[in-house]
Amino acid sequence: MQRISEEKLTEIRQSVDIVDIIGNYLALNKHGRNYFGICPFHDDTTPSLSVSPEKQIFKCFSCGASGNVYTFLMEYEQLTFLESVKKISEIANIPIDIKFKEIPKTNQELYNIYETTQKFYRNNLETKYGEKVKKYLKQRNINEQLIQEFGIGLALKENQLTNFLKKKNFNNQDLLLSGLINEKEQDIFYNRIMFPIHDQNGKIIAYSGRIYQEDTYAKYINTKETPIFKKGEILYNYHRAKEITRLDKKIIVLEGFMDVIALAAVDIKNCVATMGTAMTLQQARLIKKLANEVILLFDGDEAGQKATLSAIDELLKVGITPKIVSLEEGLDPDDYLKEKGIEKFQAKLETPQNMLDFQLSYFKKGLNLKDEIDTAKYIKLMLNELSKINDKLIKELAFKKLSDETGVAINFLKKQIKEKIDVPVIKKEPSLTKYELAERYLLYYMLKSSEIIKIYRRRITYMPTYDYRLLAIEISEFYEKYGRIDVADIFTIISDNEKLTKALKKILQEDLNEEYTLEQIEDYINVINEFNLKAELDNLKTKLKATDDSKEKAKIAEKIRLLKRGDE
Ligand code: CTP
Ligand code: MN
Repeated sequence: MQRISEEKLTEIRQSVDIVDIIGNYLALNKHGRNYFGICPFHDDTTPSLSVSPEKQIFKCFSCGASGNVYTFLMEYEQLTFLESVKKISEIANIPIDIKFKEIPKTNQELYNIYETTQKFYRNNLETKYGEKVKKYLKQRNINEQLIQEFGIGLALKENQLTNFLKKKNFNNQDLLLSGLINEKEQDIFYNRIMFPIHDQNGKIIAYSGRIYQEDTYAKYINTKETPIFKKGEILYNYHRAKEITRLDKKIIVLEGFMDVIALAAVDIKNCVATMGTAMTLQQARLIKKLANEVILLFDGDEAGQKATLSAIDELLKVGITPKIVSLEEGLDPDDYLKEKGIEKFQAKLETPQNMLDFQLSYFKKGLNLKDEIDTAKYIKLMLNELSKINDKLIKELAFKKLSDETGVAINFLKKQIKEKIDVPVIKKEPSLTKYELAERYLLYYMLKSSEIIKIYRRRITYMPTYDYRLLAIEISEFYEKYGRIDVADIFTIISDNEKLTKALKKILQEDLNEEYTLEQIEDYINVINEFNLKAELDNLKTKLKATDDSKEKAKIAEKIRLLKRGDE
């Protein structure tokens, strides 16, 4: 990341008022020393977001969002740190030279080609050749407004995109790379309805073309993968869903982009679609950025159910337990809407199946649970799925369900999983131990008072938890450099470190008294130091056991004795 000096960042930050900046986005009301507003980062009903003019930070009491002006813009407008600094510096009227990472020239050319092509395809649809296509679209419930919204266009045999683009002076190599034109300098797409595919920021990065009349060719053709288009790394409609899901964090995942458009036609717009391939971990991560409630609404055929199972796996890896809507009779969402109507469809959406029930009924298919061999097969299949669940409570309930259903004791089932399967270790939020709480509390007051920073520097050699240790070091170094402590500046300093920012938010979320007593601080310090002492002793004892050298043994034993006496 380009370095802008801490002084400059502080100067810019201090020349605006966080109350004004946030006030541009939401209504704030003064209450005592702070301002309050509806939190934009969760589905808030009471004003839970507080903005402190003194500390120049915001903090939500309900969802845990917090930060300074830079963080606010980053999260609200989905900006990078530098983009956010740039924006604030413009408001503050402080000139600053920020060079954004340059987009490689070829990529920029690809964006230009696709953008130019968009006008061409859109225009074709409005000519007499487009009439037939409009009829087709209409019959699929896609009206003028949706055509506009999704940028739907038309590729024709009658007029060649190649000529059009050549007149615009694009070079051959870039045109070839775009996947719109072949080596013989001819159009790859003709007589197809063209759907632009966008990246997260709304730039066109590819096209998919669908036939609209009886044709022997493939139903869909996509432009090939390029440096800016990787099927497994994007989701159709993501840039629009980003806005829609901001408040309620609910998203529906579909298999085809036509289904996204079909649902938009009945005003269900919080949808994204994979590009006809199995969901990847990257796509699961993208979904996680937008939503915490995910409904998988795949095609009602065997392929759709398999795709659902594998999407569940990827989503579990990022900590999402999705819900499932299954459509009967091999219908896809678009067909279902057309055949059964919007009411039935809505009812389905409102009563999704939980992930477990979906898996249970999927694996039960074709098996007879009165037959022991079949039952064993079923249990093995389900245990394999259960091993991927990290949420302890959900896992426990899943075991219970399986046990009830099959009559096999729950403890026996649990043992099978331990012996058989390597459970992938995925990070989860463990419950806090005494010393972790002490670290949090101590850090909380270090962020408030330089007195506590001094005590920390004198008394604590080492914070046991890695992220807290780094955070304490940042705070302490900040104080050493500037002779003061400022939470808003700490946010700036660690803004490129996601883990530390998360740790800082957790600390600010602690609901502690503004005032502290020195006894209380002393308590935290003792807990931390006791923990460190115990860890050191355990370490030495392990070493003692491991060595056969009697001199070495004596040395370690002496160290242990001294540590226990507290002489060291
Ligand atoms: N797909 C593709 N190439 C194909 C078929 C499908 O790339 N020959 C991809 C497309 O991205 C499509 C998705 O797979 O959006 C789902 O395919 P499918 O279910 O066959 O299409 P539908 O969404 O049902 O499209 P339609 O209703 O127009 O038939
Ligand atoms: Mn379909």
